[in-house]
Amino acid sequence: MDNAVTKLLGTQYPVIQAAMSYVTEAQLAAAVCNAGGLGVIGTNPGVRIPERDAYKTGEIMRREIHKLRELTDKPFGINYVTPVNESDPSRIYADAVKKVFLEEKVPFIVMVSTMNDFIENEIKALTAAGANVLYREISCTVETCVRAAQAGAKAIIVTGLEGGGHVSDYNMTLLNILPQVTDVLTDIPIIASGGIINTKTARAAAAMGAAGAYCGTCFLLADECCAHPDFKQLLLDSRGEDAIIWRASTARMVTNQNYVGRICNALDRGGATRKEIRPHYAGKFGKAMLLGDLEQGCVTFSPSIGAINKIRPAKEIVEDIAHGFA
Ligand SMILES: Cc1cc2nc3c(=O)[nH]c(=O)nc-3n(C[C@H](O)[C@H](O)[C@H](O)COP(=O)(O)O)c2cc1C
Repeated sequence: MDNAVTKLLGTQYPVIQAAMSYVTEAQLAAAVCNAGGLGVIGTNPGVRIPERDAYKTGEIMRREIHKLRELTDKPFGINYVTPVNESDPSRIYADAVKKVFLEEKVPFIVMVSTMNDFIENEIKALTAAGANVLYREISCTVETCVRAAQAGAKAIIVTGLEGGGHVSDYNMTLLNILPQVTDVLTDIPIIASGGIINTKTARAAAAMGAAGAYCGTCFLLADECCAHPDFKQLLLDSRGEDAIIWRASTARMVTNQNYVGRICNALDRGGATRKEIRPHYAGKFGKAMLLGDLEQGCVTFSPSIGAINKIRPAKEIVEDIAHGFA
């Protein structure tokens, strides 16, 4: 398949497996790369509890990059969750990861953030250092996409409210935001994200001007995904209407209505601050996804989940979505 995204990525298909903390390690990313898509290593790859040491965080990423390179010779990406400003306490971890991905000359960097002057300068600096930045704004607007493009991003990932994980602070679905972006940004590849799980949904994104898809939830149900079997079964049993959205420390979070989801939702509705809500879900994703604690862990997925009813090889998922762009 030949379009703006496959040309940029050097892949057979314009399908990118989205970064998801804990479960997007070398095994899944390599399966996606070998199937013709772009696999992306997420944060905390191959670990069961988050690493507290910044240097070791970077070295964990290096180990995973090496592992991936043993499993595939295809291009791949890694997730760079950018600090929001110079004094962000997460900066020491992000800097450690950045040092590693620059040293390792990782082909694509999926930079996820909330646009401001610091982020714009970071895109410029990474681009100047030779990195290929695919930029994903959490609370996506036309302005933030334009700013990222002007700063040097090689492609823009437009995420609508349909997605899993952190979602926009604005009530804009992919149907709302994607056509606005593709109207304005016509000379840079636009990749759609949020609720894309198969040919049909990919076709809708293509109709709105996207040349590729960045997909998370559907790859949770790949054979090669290391998520706990009970977590996978929960996803298979879940329906879109199980999803709720509440304010998180950054933007909003979509989860199911387990113990963690109910508490965070109630706190949000009761007017709690983002800072007050944070401890009730932060650091609890691995608990659900890796350890299978489906009540005390944080369970996030796209409401498109209702249409996913089987676990299948990553290759099948990649090809299914790719058909939508044919
Ligand atoms: C279980 C889960 C974990 C996620 N973790 C991360 C993460 O660590 N970093 C990140 O940038 N995005 C994360 N996301 C968001 C995805 O990268 C992606 O934007 C989203 O999954 C796209 O929507 P979809 O799930 O409908 O495909 C996560 C999403 C899910 C479902």
